[in-house]
Amino acid sequence: MKFVCVSEEETKSLGEKFGAGLRGGSIVLLSGELGAGKTVFTKGIAKALGVKESVLSPTFTVMNEYDGEKMRLCHFDAYRLRCGDDAVEAGLADYIGEKNTVCVIEWFENIADILPARGVKQVRISYSGENEREIEISDDK
Ligand SMILES: Nc1ncnc2c1ncn2[C@@H]1O[C@H](COP(=O)(O)OP(=O)(O)O)[C@@H](O)[C@H]1O
Ligand SMILES: [Mg+2]
Repeated sequence: MKFVCVSEEETKSLGEKFGAGLRGGSIVLLSGELGAGKTVFTKGIAKALGVKESVLSPTFTVMNEYDGEKMRLCHFDAYRLRCGDDAVEAGLADYIGEKNTVCVIEWFENIADILPARGVKQVRISYSGENEREIEISDDK
């Protein structure tokens, strides 16, 4: 399904609606260039999962974990990882698909070799104007 969001707030609320439909073990793959809105979308997911803390980009930590009131959120930024083994070595791969946990992965392409091909949701975000984004949501890679 395709959506157009004309502000940061709209992208966040789309993330929240999408997040409300996720179950424990869900894996969400986000794609889109730097500044597309992947982290903004994740903030919406976090809200739906009952995360009270503010969600910050895990650019340097690779993963941030939040204990939401409904579910745990693991927010990955694989930008600096070269392959799935890097995630395994960092002890991060174990969280992926874990029950009661939603994993949201930015730059998932870098660790695609350890991600399941099925049972994942993909969200593609692209620029369509300064404050406008096209967001396509589909199942599986
Ligand atoms: N419609 C929109 N949806 C999401 N972000 C938007 C939108 N319009 C402008 N922005 C801006 O784009 C940036 C997106 O940043 P961020 O979510 O960190 O990107 P990414 O994680 O994809 O690198 C923010 O500065 C946000 O304010
Ligand atoms: Mg980001």
